[in-house]
Amino acid sequence: MKKQTQTLTYFEHVDDKTLSKGQKELLIRAKNNLTGSYSPYSNFKVSAALLLANGEIVCGTNQENLAYPSGLCAERVAIYYAKSRYPDVAIEKIALTAFSDKFTVENPIPPCGACRQAMIEYRLNQKKPIELIMRGEKGQIVVINDLKELMPLHFCETNLRK
Ligand code: THU
Repeated sequence: MKKQTQTLTYFEHVDDKTLSKGQKELLIRAKNNLTGSYSPYSNFKVSAALLLANGEIVCGTNQENLAYPSGLCAERVAIYYAKSRYPDVAIEKIALTAFSDKFTVENPIPPCGACRQAMIEYRLNQKKPIELIMRGEKGQIVVINDLKELMPLHFCETNLRK
């Protein structure tokens, strides 16, 4: 038996002062787009802003449904929209944020497992890193240089081959 270890490197910023201009702008775009969230059941608005390699910024928000599982997270709404519009354009950065009327969202918003799987599909295809910038309503920001790091031992193409 051989013990294997994978580590995750991420960067914590106490506020946005140490972010690059591009990172700050993307987070602002995500925040401004929170109004698009349809979340009457959770009262938890999530927004994702994607910077594409062609300079376009594409945003998406969580869309809920009375039949709960039919809803979709902000990340997948944004990614599927971006890849439908620009199938051949790489994603460079993703900014995530959230807001609730019921409580203050203190902590950065990490993507759920299903969104990680959806994101890694495009990340592997494009063969270029996707930076992930996560923030709650305010305060601390967490940055991961490449979201692939969030998904160790992910299911990938080679698992489907004999
Ligand atoms: N949600 C997202 O949009 N992204 C995530 O990564 C986690 C959760 C949404 C789904 C649901 O509409 C609400 O947040 C509460 O789970």
